[in-house]
Amino acid sequence: MSVTKDDIEQALVRFLPEKDGLIDTVLKSMHYSLTAGGKRVRPALVLEFAKLCGGSEESALPFACAVEMIHTYSLIHDDLPCMDNDDMRRGKPTNHKVFGEAQAVLGGDALLTLAFETILSREAVMYNSAEKCVEAGRVLAVCAGAEGMIGGQIIDIESEELEAGVDRLREMDDRKTGALIRAACLLGCISAGADDRLKAAARDYANNIGLAFQIVDDILDVTSDNETLGKPVGSDEQNKKSTYVSCLGIEKCRELVGTLTDKAIESLSVFDGDTSALIQLAEKLRDRRK
Ligand code: IPE
Ligand code: IPE
Ligand code: MG
Ligand code: MG
Ligand code: MG
Repeated sequence: MSVTKDDIEQALVRFLPEKDGLIDTVLKSMHYSLTAGGKRVRPALVLEFAKLCGGSEESALPFACAVEMIHTYSLIHDDLPCMDNDDMRRGKPTNHKVFGEAQAVLGGDALLTLAFETILSREAVMYNSAEKCVEAGRVLAVCAGAEGMIGGQIIDIESEELEAGVDRLREMDDRKTGALIRAACLLGCISAGADDRLKAAARDYANNIGLAFQIVDDILDVTSDNETLGKPVGSDEQNKKSTYVSCLGIEKCRELVGTLTDKAIESLSVFDGDTSALIQLAEKLRDRRK
C-alpha cells in the first residue's frame, strides 16, 4: 500500500496537539499554516528515499511530517515583517496577517518543537527504532539549525542591499533551502537503514536539486504571477535581495538548473532499486511553475 499526498495531509494533522481551551490560538495558528497546502516536496523525498533503500513509507511517515513541520515554521517566520514582509503564502494571507506577529512567532516556534516531538513519538520509535529516531533527530537538528537553514537565512538577511557573488549565493542557498532538502533525503535513508554509500548518493542528489530548487524559486519570483505562485512575486527585488537571478540573469540560471538536475539524476545511479520516481521528481521541480 503506498502513502498518498492525502495520507501526508492527514498525518500532519494527526501529530498536532489536541484542542485545549487555554492554548487554542497557537493551535489555530499552527493548524492554519500546516494545512494551507503547499507542494509537500520534502515529505515526498523522505518517502521516496525510504522506499528506494528498501524501507517502508509507513515507517518513514513520522519523519516526513517532521521535516514538513520545520519547513512550514520556516515559511511563517520568513514572511514576518522583520524578514521578507510578505502578505500571501500558499494562496492565503500569511500567518501573521491572520493571527498577529506574536502568535505567528509562537506558532512557528511550536511547529519547530513539534517536529522533534514527532520524530521521538511512540509511533516513530515503533515503526523505526529508538536508534534510528535519534539519528534522524540529530540530522534534522543540524540541517535546520545555525549551520543549516537558519545559517542560510542569516546570510540572506545580511546580503540585502549587497551585490553578493556566486560563491556567497551558493553557500546561502545550500543552507537556507538545500539543508532541509538534504535532511529529507537522509531521513528516508535512515528510516530504511541505508548504508553510508547510499546516504552519500542521497546527499549528492539533495545538494543538486536543493540548489536548483532555490534558483527556480528566484526565477519564479521574477517571471510568475501572484495567483499562480500563491505568494507575492517581486518580493526579492522589493527587499533588495541578492539572488542567482540578480547576479547571473534568467537565461544563465535556467541553464544552471538544467545542469544541476542532470547531476542529481546521475547521482541516483548507485541505487539498485527503481529510481524513476526520484528522476521524475527532479524533472518536475526543474519545470515547475509554482
Ligand atoms: C518555498 O518552498 C521556500 C523555499 C525554500 C524556496 P516551497 O516552494 O517548497 O513551498 P511550499 O511548501 O510548496 O509552499
Ligand atoms: C526562503 O527563501 C527559504 C526559507 C528557509 C524559508 P525565500 O524567502 O526565497 O522563500 P519564499 O520565496 O518566500 O518562499
Ligand atoms: Mg526569505
Ligand atoms: Mg521569502
Ligand atoms: Mg523566494
